[in-house]
Amino acid sequence: MLHLKCDTPQRWLAQVDADLPSILIDHAHCEKKAAGTAVQLLFRYPQHAELLAPLSKLAREELVHFEQLLALLAERGLRFSRHRPSPYAGRLRERERTGEPERLQDTLLCCALIEARSCERFGLLAEAAEDPALAGFYRRLLDAEARHHGIYLSLAHSLAPQAEVEARLRELAEHEAAVLAEARFSGHLHSGMH
Ligand SMILES: [Fe+2]
Ligand SMILES: [Fe+2]
Repeated sequence: MLHLKCDTPQRWLAQVDADLPSILIDHAHCEKKAAGTAVQLLFRYPQHAELLAPLSKLAREELVHFEQLLALLAERGLRFSRHRPSPYAGRLRERERTGEPERLQDTLLCCALIEARSCERFGLLAEAAEDPALAGFYRRLLDAEARHHGIYLSLAHSLAPQAEVEARLRELAEHEAAVLAEARFSGHLHSGMH
């Protein structure tokens, strides 16, 4: 359902356990970035009326998630601060084509895959969390990010024939799996696995 080409292995969780504060701080940055990416699309494509309301709503939801993370960090005595971003999204988006409408289609599909990976990892984090409040938090986010995955995918489908979108999604999902396979664990939500 999430169209991912690889599963995050359980050993990734062991590395998260070793540095949960970094994961939480990075997660706050990811929610802010997700809102920013959706807003950037509103600026880049004002002529695409079908994108505007769904992406505006999605950006607001990501900012609510960001605020929830800020509260969670404060509860745990962790300080939100400048942070070196994970290379994941940049590496994934290197494959975006440059001409239109391919660029927009690829951006929407890359965003769909990033949402899918977040959703998959929140599922693992929810299962592993010893703190029931944290587990519940991840479960709620998981539902939202699964929905965002669907929104980005349906926007991509509204712009091109179904077979073309599905083929490109498969290619980008293979690339996403390769990006993670090459990356090391780094205290980021979208870090590699070794
Ligand atoms: Fe989010
Ligand atoms: Fe999201």
